[in-house]
This record gives sequence, C-alpha cells and structure tokens, in this order.
Amino acid sequence: MSFDPKILGFLCNWCCYAGADLAGVSRMQYPPNIRVIRVMCSGRIDPKFIFESLRVGADGVFIGGCHLGDCHYLEGNYEAVKKFEMVQKFLKLINLDNRVKLEWVSASEGARYASVITEFTEHIKSLGPSPAGGDNPDKELLDKLRAMEEAAGSDRMRALVGRERKIIEQENVYGEQVSLEEFNEIFDSAIIEEYERHRILISLEKDSRSIKDLATELEIDPSVVLEHMVKLKSRGQVDFGEFIGITPMFHKM
Ligand code: FES
Repeated sequence: MSFDPKILGFLCNWCCYAGADLAGVSRMQYPPNIRVIRVMCSGRIDPKFIFESLRVGADGVFIGGCHLGDCHYLEGNYEAVKKFEMVQKFLKLINLDNRVKLEWVSASEGARYASVITEFTEHIKSLGPSPAGGDNPDKELLDKLRAMEEAAGSDRMRALVGRERKIIEQENVYGEQVSLEEFNEIFDSAIIEEYERHRILISLEKDSRSIKDLATELEIDPSVVLEHMVKLKSRGQVDFGEFIGITPMFHKM
C-alpha cells in the first residue's frame, strides 16, 4: 500500500500563507498532504507546537514565513530561525530532525510554494511513516517527544533562545562577552540536561524510582542521574519520601 503522509504546515499570514493562496487560485498542482494552520508570523510558532505535532501523529512538519528582512513584524522570522535551530538539535537526539522544515516563501511566490511543498512531501514519503505516528506508535518515542516539548518550554531554554543575540553581542554585568562558540557550547549542554531532566520527571509520574532504576530505564549514567536529581530537588520538582533498604525512592512533586 502506498504511503500517504500527514504533513502539518504552520504558515505566516503575510507571506507564506498568501503564497499558498496564490498557488491555489492559480491552480498550481502540488500534493494535497499538507494541512495548514495560519499564524500571524513565523516567530509565533512555539517549539512546543512542532513537538506536539509529531507526538499526535504528523509524519512531517512544515514552517513557512516571510523572507529574512521582509517580516511584517520586522524580526519575527529571525526569532523563528533560533527556535527552529533549537528544535532541530532536540530532534537530532531521536533522529526525527529530518521530518521538519523551515522555508521562506513570499506572497508573490505561488510557484515556489507549490515546488517547496512538492519536494517536502516527496522527502517525507521517502522516509516512510513516522515511528511516532500511526495506530501503534513507539511509546518510548512519544515520551521522548513529550520530554522535549516540556524541556523546550522551560524557563532556561526560553531564556537562552530569546537572549542569544543579546548574550553574544553585548557584555554581561561582569563586563564579559560570550563568543558564539561559547554560547553554542552552553546551549548544547542545556539541551541535553533539560531533556534528560524532563525524561526523569515523566518517568517519575508513573511511579517512585531510585537513581539506579532511572539510570537503567533511561540509559543515563547513574552519576549523571544523581546530578540531575540534585538540581531537580533544588528546584522543588522532585523529592524522596521512602527508603527501600538504604536506597532513597524519588517521586515527582
Ligand atoms: S510576518 Fe511573516 S515571518 Fe513574520
């Protein structure tokens, strides 16, 4: 049976959506697999939307905005790039990064819209159904996507994405300037840490667990799990109530 992918598209009102409209009224042909959600600007697309789309069964997610420099709100699409880069880094950890795409299409580029969507649909077809979709999705993958969705929405990740330009272009309160390489290092380790911490929190929703249980279940080094637990406890997100022998059992707060 041929695979008919489900693709979700978030299109900015002022350019890409108008480009899609032009493709439609000009009767340009492109695959009908995309379902469109209109947003006012690509900068409005919260990373959570992308993780949730994959979690509810989309085989691919397309984001379309105005060309850089043409955003109706001046810098919204620059924000979109930063958020998209973060989403890609998260999704790379579970090999789903090639199922999302960001493109710029202007209101006059109906033909370009049709060709971009045709190309993306063919690409998703070549990948086959998403392991997170269908009638029998990979449950562990769904938990991982949920952990990413929550990690991307954490204050830490939002602050890093929102302030990247300020952090690397201006000095901090100590008169220090952070280079792009240093920022990327901080950013990459924050992604891994927040992702692992949210995986721990999701696991603790099911039952209380020891450090060793979590390390085995999530395939994370026990010493790293311990570090995460110290941080999560200091944030008031986990605690331990009971002991089995001398082993503390952690639960989510
Ligand atoms: S209005 Fe189109 S990307 Fe901002």
